[in-house]
Order: sequence, then structure tokens, then C-alpha cells
Amino acid sequence: MTGGIAHDFRNILSVIDCGLRLADSNLGDPDKVRTFIAGAREGVEEGVRLTSKLLDFGRQDGVKLYAADLSALLKNLERFLQYGAGPSTRVVLECAPAIPKCLVDPDQFAAAILNLVINARDATTGGEGEVRINTSRCESDNALSKLGSESAYVRVRVQDNGSGMPGHVARRVFEPFFTTKGYKGNGLGVPQVGAFMRHIGGHVAVSSDPGCGTTVDLFFPAIES
Ligand SMILES: Nc1ncnc2c1ncn2[C@@H]1O[C@H](COP(=O)(O)OP(=O)(O)O)[C@@H](O)[C@H]1O
Ligand SMILES: [Mg+2]
Repeated sequence: MTGGIAHDFRNILSVIDCGLRLADSNLGDPDKVRTFIAGAREGVEEGVRLTSKLLDFGRQDGVKLYAADLSALLKNLERFLQYGAGPSTRVVLECAPAIPKCLVDPDQFAAAILNLVINARDATTGGEGEVRINTSRCESDNALSKLGSESAYVRVRVQDNGSGMPGHVARRVFEPFFTTKGYKGNGLGVPQVGAFMRHIGGHVAVSSDPGCGTTVDLFFPAIES
């Protein structure tokens, strides 16, 4: 758990760092500086919420789940995710309207998506990087039929055009501490996303083409009204 928390903090620090750097390089334009500082502050607020959550764990309150519209959550996270991706990887959101609600902890959801966006950033180079995040309602899918589940899901797809993974890497992504990034990685990002999805009764599928990119599908059980 300590490693996972340190990982979340480091990701959040990337968001804050990006906002501050952007502010620093636009000192001549007060309106831009204010916007970039507001973005950095969103990172600080997320960090404060993470700290409160740790205190809650201490008090054994546990994680609280809310019925959330994942498209709306993602729209609120747009700047946070763009700052996490840094200046040379573009984040494109395509949020479907009117999707069923799902039970999630919004801060864990934000941490999971940020994890995937930062992996996409690490896999893309040269300013051509793009990570597309879309939401859709889905009833049946090959990955889901394996679960033997009849219920509806909301799929959040995080797709990058980065380096992709060879088979021997793709097979190990859910393994804690498996990383190809040396001292810059800790191999806790994808396992943490996996644990989060298991906790809410969902499912993750990763597919990757070396040289073309990586797609991570998160399937959230929908709440039937
Ligand atoms: N979007 C991606 N594109 C290419 N490789 C990826 C992607 N996501 C994960 N990986 C691979 O999976 C490994 C494990 O990822 P993760 O658990 O997030 O740990 P870390 O990012 O600290 O290495 C990475 O080191 C990388 O080799
Ligand atoms: Mg990672």
C-alpha cells in the first residue's frame, strides 16, 4: 500500500509541476499564469484529498463509493489529466452523453485514469503523442463474456499512439513491481488500476501493438435504475 500511495503522490506532483512550469514560461501574460496556477492547484487539492483518505484508512472508515456519471467525472478531470500528460502528449476526451451511472470512489477513479495517462505519456515521444479517452455504454464484449456477466457496463477506453508493448511485456503488466523504466518506474501503476477495478467488481483489458500503441479498457458495472 505504501508503494501505491507514493506512486499516486508522484503522479500528482507531475500535474503540479506541469502547471507551475507553464506558469513560469508565460510570466508576461497574467491571465495565462492564473489559469496554469489554477491547474496546479487542482493537483494540490487532489493531493490533499489523498492525504485525507489515508487518514480515513487509519480510522478504518474505508473508501466511499458514489453513483457517478463517468463522462462527467472525466470532463472535470480534463485539465488535471492534460497536465499529467505534460506538454508533448495531447489528451483528447470523447465522453458519451447519457451513460448509466457507476459506483466508484471519484478520487480513486482520478488516480487510476492519471496512472494510465502517465503511462501513455511515457510511451509517446517527439510531441506527436496522443491519448484518447472515451466512454461508452456496453452490453456485450468478448472480454466481458469471459466474466459470464449479463449486466451492463460502462467502458472507459484509454488509447495511446505510443510505442506499444511486445508480448513478453504485455503479459506482465499486472505484475506488481514489473517495470521496463528502470529507476524511473516502480511497476505499481497498472497493478493499482487492476486492484481498483477488482474492488468495484469491474474488469480491465489491455491490448497493445508494438509500434502502434496501447489500449486499456476499463469496464465499470453500471447501476440499473
Ligand atoms: N501505455 C503503455 N504503453 C507502453 N507500455 C506500457 C504502457 N502502460 C504500461 N506499459 C508497460 O508496463 C510496465 C508497467 O507499467 P506500470 O505498472 O504503470 O509501472 P511503471 O509505469 O512504473 O513502469 C511499464 O514499465 C511499461 O513497460
Ligand atoms: Mg506507470
